[in-house]
Amino acid sequence: MSTGIKPKREHFGSKFGIIAAAAGSAVGLGNVWKFPYVTGQNGGGAFLIIYVICVILLGIPVMLSEFTIGRRGQRNVFGSFKRLAPNRPWYIVGIMGVVAAFVILAFYSAVAGWTLEYIVRSVHNSFNMQSTQQLSLSFDSFIVNPFRPVVWQLVFMLLTALIVAGGVKNGIERYSKLLMPLLLVFLVILAVRSLSLDGALKGLEFMFAPDFSKVSAKTVLFAMGQAFFSLSLGMGALITYGSYIGKNENLAKTAVSVSIADTFIALLAGVVIFPAVFAFNIEPTAGPSLVFITLPEIFSHIPFGNIFSLIFFILLAVAALTSTVSVLEVVVAYFSEELRMTRVKATIIASVAISVLGVLASLSFGVLSGYKVGGKIFFDVLDFLASNILLPLGGLLIVVFIGWYLSRKDVLEEISNSGTLKAKFFPYFLFIIKYIAPVAIAVILIYSIFFGSLG
Ligand code: TRP
Repeated sequence: MSTGIKPKREHFGSKFGIIAAAAGSAVGLGNVWKFPYVTGQNGGGAFLIIYVICVILLGIPVMLSEFTIGRRGQRNVFGSFKRLAPNRPWYIVGIMGVVAAFVILAFYSAVAGWTLEYIVRSVHNSFNMQSTQQLSLSFDSFIVNPFRPVVWQLVFMLLTALIVAGGVKNGIERYSKLLMPLLLVFLVILAVRSLSLDGALKGLEFMFAPDFSKVSAKTVLFAMGQAFFSLSLGMGALITYGSYIGKNENLAKTAVSVSIADTFIALLAGVVIFPAVFAFNIEPTAGPSLVFITLPEIFSHIPFGNIFSLIFFILLAVAALTSTVSVLEVVVAYFSEELRMTRVKATIIASVAISVLGVLASLSFGVLSGYKVGGKIFFDVLDFLASNILLPLGGLLIVVFIGWYLSRKDVLEEISNSGTLKAKFFPYFLFIIKYIAPVAIAVILIYSIFFGSLG
């Protein structure tokens, strides 16, 4: 029917597959590792309320924008912009997305690798009878080791690459459909265990009872930043996935389902962590070490703790894996479509290149810790660059593209499936994307460039 070369694109095979893949991208270390401690540091329930508002007002509209660009563009993140805005520099947003994918994957895979080490430690029951100090020492000495973390990181990259190389349907969709339900089951088991500990109520109270005295402008910014990262927005992961969504699917509904799933899982992770933290009288604001030091300590004190810790770290690894898959896919789709390589070749080149960067990130905790940029080790530089600059900037340009560059008619046509869906929310959506989202994201961007980490 069509003229010219039109590479055949794979699409997701089912509604559940789409949601599993996109929720798989969204649900990651951000939910299980970051969300609980950011909530802990920002006033518990009050933060939660603001977070949910951010997801609804900002997260869902931006996600819908990403899906729209991808499905209309029918290409990778670079190709989609190029197609929708021929002869305009919007493809730069796509290039930024590919760069961001490199950067994110490099530091994210380092932490993801740690989860594999902790799976093995759980199998060996090595947290048993250890004091907090011992656990913290063994974590610190592990991450500065020049071999082990690197090996685990490479193993993790290999797993990611194997799934991505399988393609959209037989790789990404298939494994997401398998891994996401597994993650949910594990999380529910742990939540039940955690809720049955003495002191569980205090944990729930901390998490859900809003203390508005702790809320400041900063809290709102943290909540926005966390929503953005947790929903995988701003770098085209969901543009890429959007390009695999069939023409008859309801994009808005998909964005809502994925956001609900992501938020629900973050809450459930909180329900696992806070009751346990309170039952053992630990500071809920412990920060990033919450998961690798505090939790092992808790596990070491409960009957069959090693089994629960095994479940927990497998859960964390699974959550991270479906996320790394979505980030690698951004690069692989770009390489294979724009540079015309086979998927397998694109996957190999992309993952090897990213691994090199990743190994440097891993080593920056130990042997390379002397090399600093602006006082930050390489790992932190990558984290800062991605979370504080590339993602918000990408998100800003994405909403400006939908709100101000594409015509209202085109956007409506895509979102309403050429008029088959009513899309009554459309004027509100457009209002948010045109006015509210750009201002909100610009504020996050400026703040995070000048004042550092937003969670
Ligand atoms: N959302 C994931 C998490 O919560 C991380 C992630 C995956 C991501 N893909 C992304 C973040 C794309 C930003 C952009 O862990």
